Amino acid sequence: MASRDYSEQDVEEFFDQTLHNYLSFWDSEGVLHTGYFAAGNEGDYQAAAQHTSAVLAAEMMIDGSSRVLDAGSGCGNFLLYLAREYGCSGEGLDLSEKRVKFAMDRLAAAPGLRITFRHGSVTKMPYQAGTFTHVVSQDSLCLVPDKPRSHAEIARVLAPGGIFAFSDFLQPKEHVSERARRHVFDRVRWNGGYSLIGYQEALDSCGFEILLARNLRSHIRQTYRVLGETAVERAKTVPDQAARDWMLSFAESCREMLVAIDDEEFGWGIFVARKRSA
Ligand SMILES: C[S@@+](CC[C@H](N)C(=O)[O-])C[C@H]1O[C@@H](n2cnc3c(N)ncnc32)[C@H](O)[C@@H]1O
Repeated sequence: MASRDYSEQDVEEFFDQTLHNYLSFWDSEGVLHTGYFAAGNEGDYQAAAQHTSAVLAAEMMIDGSSRVLDAGSGCGNFLLYLAREYGCSGEGLDLSEKRVKFAMDRLAAAPGLRITFRHGSVTKMPYQAGTFTHVVSQDSLCLVPDKPRSHAEIARVLAPGGIFAFSDFLQPKEHVSERARRHVFDRVRWNGGYSLIGYQEALDSCGFEILLARNLRSHIRQTYRVLGETAVERAKTVPDQAARDWMLSFAESCREMLVAIDDEEFGWGIFVARKRSA
């Protein structure tokens, strides 16, 4: 049970209101997802975040003929990367109007790509059935209050045999402590998520064959360890008191997130699934 049940509107407000704060210390280009750290490079969040996109792309069988939807595209980084690297076409859909605007501004600085970004929810997608060959997502779908609905929408807009490749936060344990609730779940208006097994069962029940499911808890642990340290360092030089307070409170939450990960209350994984043909 969440402290309260967050609605899509709560999630939308949170991601609109916090964009500026996140950009100020996390990544100014809007890469706001979990890093997949390479051995020997455990301190470099930016390289790890880029690696997450590269790992998912390598698993999803994408090329220039692919039509890709990024569900919860945020500031647009993953779709921009896929369009640049593979020449695919596609669209990013996100609940936060401010993040969509940020993504459009970035797209304007990268002419020639066959992609666009749109404001909207993955629970009610403005696309015809079978529009996309691929649906991708990074750390967004956990935030949807009605997950069966978003999964059904993803299955609907994918062509038969289409690929769904994504990363997401996990909730390995059913019951979580008050501390985890406050610092991990309530912090981003997240009602709760699946375990690694539970996610696969949910996907299977809405018509997906699982091709890959990887538990990557050590990588989310490293992500929040590095980001918490970055927030503390950045707070030392920020003149604005409100921004400083926000960073220090984020850093405190990061420390609690590490505890929650160790206690199996919080985790992260990547998944690749194929929509069954029949
Ligand atoms: C942690 S951010 C990740 C953003 C992006 N995928 C990235 O890699 O930087 C989560 C994103 O999910 C979006 N989101 C949450 N619920 C959504 C929904 N129902 N429909 C579309 N986007 C949603 C938020 O607005 C936010 O931009």
